[in-house]
Amino acid sequence: MFADRILSGMRPTGSLHLGHYHGVLKNWVKLQHEYECFFFVADWHALTTHYDTPEVIEQSVWDMVIDWLAAGVDPAQATLFIQSRVPEHAELHLLMSMITPLGWLERVPTYKDQQEKLSEKDLSTYGFLGYPLLQSADILIYRATMVPVGEDQVPHIEFTREIARRFNHIYGREPGFEEKAHAAIKKLGGKKSRLYEELRSRFQEQGDEAALESAQAMLNETQNLSLGDRERLFGYLEGGGKMILTEPEALLTAASRMPGWMGRRCPNPTTTPYPCAKTPTASARKYAPCPPIPRACAAPIRVTRPSVRYGNCTKSIPMKLHATGATRLQERRYWLHRMQTTGNRRCTERAGAMRERAQVYLDDPTLVRNIIADGCEKARRLASDTMRDVREAMGLSYS
Ligand code: TRP
Repeated sequence: MFADRILSGMRPTGSLHLGHYHGVLKNWVKLQHEYECFFFVADWHALTTHYDTPEVIEQSVWDMVIDWLAAGVDPAQATLFIQSRVPEHAELHLLMSMITPLGWLERVPTYKDQQEKLSEKDLSTYGFLGYPLLQSADILIYRATMVPVGEDQVPHIEFTREIARRFNHIYGREPGFEEKAHAAIKKLGGKKSRLYEELRSRFQEQGDEAALESAQAMLNETQNLSLGDRERLFGYLEGGGKMILTEPEALLTAASRMPGWMGRRCPNPTTTPYPCAKTPTASARKYAPCPPIPRACAAPIRVTRPSVRYGNCTKSIPMKLHATGATRLQERRYWLHRMQTTGNRRCTERAGAMRERAQVYLDDPTLVRNIIADGCEKARRLASDTMRDVREAMGLSYS
């Protein structure tokens, strides 16, 4: 079993671009081998800004999933689903809205930023204000421990942590919590009980984070604990209630790097279409051929630059070139050409492989429908487990 669970979502608001591929998808493909991963189409989030153009969302949903698959996201390793097909997200969003101070939402920096950026849209809506809370529900309902996001999303993860803490504080204090926590400590056994108490007071009295981590590690290693006692002990460590919801961490996605564009003005990764299933010609056009090598420098030139960065790696290109009296400008052009063609070749090869993978799904749409149906079912099972605990904690499990 994996110790960490990863969850991330993408809004279906149009076709994917290069930034999605280099910034996000490559990362997902890597993470799926290392963690238990859940990736989903955030269609409700798309509606918060595109409520008046639902057709855009409808069109993008399946294309987006095909693009994920084409990029190498593997449904045998990661669970893929659509947010609106797991209605439990909405229930958790509603229940958490009861304890969410308005000021917290208004102070999330993306709120004002996006309203200003998308000034052509009226975003003074209830749904848009609640965007970060819906995102919190997405994350907390799976008890995800890590959320791969870009820097712009970090405040949303911070917000999610605060909501989880507030929830645990308010609802984790079942009647007799302290007594039950003490009884659970006793059950740890002499040596471990003492260690737990000591680490807990080091954290609570001196803010010693290392002590907190050791205590958490110790609990993780302890096997013969009931689920309830485990939650109590985790909660009691930090001074909150039972840990019903898990605080996630942001896993920062490195900024995207563009291959094959050395020396050219870097294309904007958020507008350049990505070489996906549907747009081979558009993207081929973007990878425009560079000017032919000037005759005068068709022969190799000596270049002193030790290494050249292209693709997403730094590589030394063998500099066995002999000058033939070319000017610096000609020399530069020659290199630009070399790098662009190398970069282009890689991009073209990758685009070819992706198109091939996508074609399978384009030819048989039921494949994609089935992948998503399976993913939704699996996601729903987990989400229902969390909702059972949440309803119980909030006094909603009448019998
Ligand atoms: N807000 C994210 C974005 O704009 C999309 C998203 C929605 C998300 N819910 C999420 C990302 C949960 C990570 C986890 O990119």
